[in-house]
Amino acid sequence: MKAAIILVFTFLLALTLLLPSSRYVPEMAVTAQVSPTPVAFDQAAALAKLREQIKGRENEPATAVFKNIQTMKNTPAGRLLSVMEMGFARSLGVTCTHCHVPEKWDSEDKPQKQIAREMSAMVSTINRDLLRNIKNLKSEAPIVNCTTCHRGEVKPALNLPPK
Ligand code: HEC
Ligand code: HEC
Repeated sequence: MKAAIILVFTFLLALTLLLPSSRYVPEMAVTAQVSPTPVAFDQAAALAKLREQIKGRENEPATAVFKNIQTMKNTPAGRLLSVMEMGFARSLGVTCTHCHVPEKWDSEDKPQKQIAREMSAMVSTINRDLLRNIKNLKSEAPIVNCTTCHRGEVKPALNLPPK
């Protein structure tokens, strides 16, 4: 009798330990507690907010409106935002977050922001000092820009896609 009770008890104990369902915690619940899913970056909303913030000052130089302008000093503030959207983000196939921590637009947290400044300088050198000196081109004032190389990619292609 005693042996039978011990046997049943051991069996039940083994059952509770082995049954996965009794100890199962849904993975989603754990992840949600540890690191909540970050809210997706809304580029259109970020741009709309910035345009609202600079309302009435779009034609002032970027330096007068923004905090940390080193390259595009004479660019009108409104135009700077268009450059950010079309010239930088779209031509590289990225969003603002590639170079910025959203809302901290003036900070230098991301090295890509500095790279972009040096890329702008490189583009100026190509346009001002090199391209202009090539004789017999079709255009009077030939230029390259970010899209010329990047074409929607962070890393410009070296080869055409295979046919
Ligand atoms: C490829 C990198 C890159 C991308 C992408 C980019 N930016 Fe910028 N952004 C820069 C650089 C570089 C500067 C500083 C320009 C200068 O020094 O003249 C800047 C400056 C700014 C500033 C001025 C901040 C201040 O107060 O000094 C704002 C605002 C801004 N960006 C918004 C945006 C928004 C909005 C987007 C997305 C639509 C975006 N940027 C995408 C590189 C980038
Ligand atoms: C003559 C071609 C050329 C032009 C024009 C050009 N780039 Fe680049 N860019 C490159 C190359 C090449 C790289 C390096 C890619 C790699 O890592 O191998 C690069 C890399 C970058 C990166 C780093 C991307 C990353 O996160 O790895 C940024 C940011 C960038 N370019 C921004 C710009 C911007 C903004 C412009 C326009 C002002 C521009 N580039 C114009 C060729 C170019």
